[in-house]
Amino acid sequence: MDNYDTPDELVRQHRPDIPVTCFRPGALDAAARWFTQNFPGKVLYAVKANPAPYVLAGLFNAGITHFDVASMPEIELARDLLPKAHLSFMHPVKSRNAIERAYFDHGIRDFAFDSLEELEKIVTCTGKSKDLTLLLRLAVPNTASELPLSGKFGVAPEKAAALLRAARKTAKRLGITFHVGSQTMDPQAYTTALALVGDILRSIPRTKVDIVDVGGGFPSLYPDMVPPALADYKAAIEQGFDRLPRPGRIEFWCEPGRALVAESCSVIVKVDLRKDDVLYINDGTYGSLFDAGHLGFRYPVRLIRPVPGGTDAALKSFRFYGPTCDSIDYMPGPFFLPEDVREGDYIEIGQLGAYGNTMRTGFNGFDATETVRVASAPLATMYEHEDAKELVNV
Ligand SMILES: Cc1ncc(COP(=O)(O)O)c(C=O)c1O
Repeated sequence: MDNYDTPDELVRQHRPDIPVTCFRPGALDAAARWFTQNFPGKVLYAVKANPAPYVLAGLFNAGITHFDVASMPEIELARDLLPKAHLSFMHPVKSRNAIERAYFDHGIRDFAFDSLEELEKIVTCTGKSKDLTLLLRLAVPNTASELPLSGKFGVAPEKAAALLRAARKTAKRLGITFHVGSQTMDPQAYTTALALVGDILRSIPRTKVDIVDVGGGFPSLYPDMVPPALADYKAAIEQGFDRLPRPGRIEFWCEPGRALVAESCSVIVKVDLRKDDVLYINDGTYGSLFDAGHLGFRYPVRLIRPVPGGTDAALKSFRFYGPTCDSIDYMPGPFFLPEDVREGDYIEIGQLGAYGNTMRTGFNGFDATETVRVASAPLATMYEHEDAKELVNV
């Protein structure tokens, strides 16, 4: 991977014709450091957010040695790259073949479930093994989240006690896990979910529960989604932990995806055509901008002119079309850029380290990309500054 001080340096030297991912190891380190220093327990990285080898290795080197994996390819990738990493198979619905291979070929002992049927599958496919850590996925409110994940997974709280008792019969270690929804904007969502966990624990006083896992959902910073400081999330979670029964006897886990990696990558795109307020760019919803199209995410953007000098023009709102022939390859924004933006200009789009590159398809032949390392700061950050709002670049 080539190194540059800034994305501007890369653009001026090479004028790339394909989208270029700018990886910022410093931003990845800052996020990893925040979680390892502030979360009072184990931090598992949710690999699905960005499985790029340089991200996995960067997190491992920064002290994140536990990984939440959700598929066989994620397991194989993480095992190959990081043989010493601890992997937890946190998908609540797995094929029998995947459970067998995870347990026997890859040494995985931690498995999530949210039904009696899945619990029985895990027990059978691991040969009734006695060394399992079984984590029950609980359904909790996702109302503070921009991307709710409820509905598909999670057992209703009133059914949790029976499943925990059933799992306790075979589990070496037993846990409760939940997900408050991705990009959760209100830290109290964790306190509320932990209160539900507390009620369940109080209803089964004789069933030992070893782990409580607060999942992912920690936010990143986008122009129209400015969350409270991460310290407020830490405080809300600690308040929830303090109110749980059985103090000192429960280990805590979390599984951040987005918050750990969003700032670590941006993408440089080229403007191929301008029609009024519409820019046709060379990356789109079939590439790293799925969320900009299908979820209407507004990412921070910045003009990079390929010739020195720049522009003093006022900012104006633009919409983007991606490079494919499909008209749903459309990103409404609004994205604010200098009003004289023109064909041949480049745009750096920030916060694409989470759920960006990993969503790429080769549709219509637009699969070529490149990745470089850059030293400059990300377009927006939650980490080094108390008041993140000041840093949002709209
Ligand atoms: C089980 C599980 N854990 C963690 C995550 C990561 O969530 P986030 O990126 O919101 O932190 C996800 C995301 O879908 C998930 O399904």
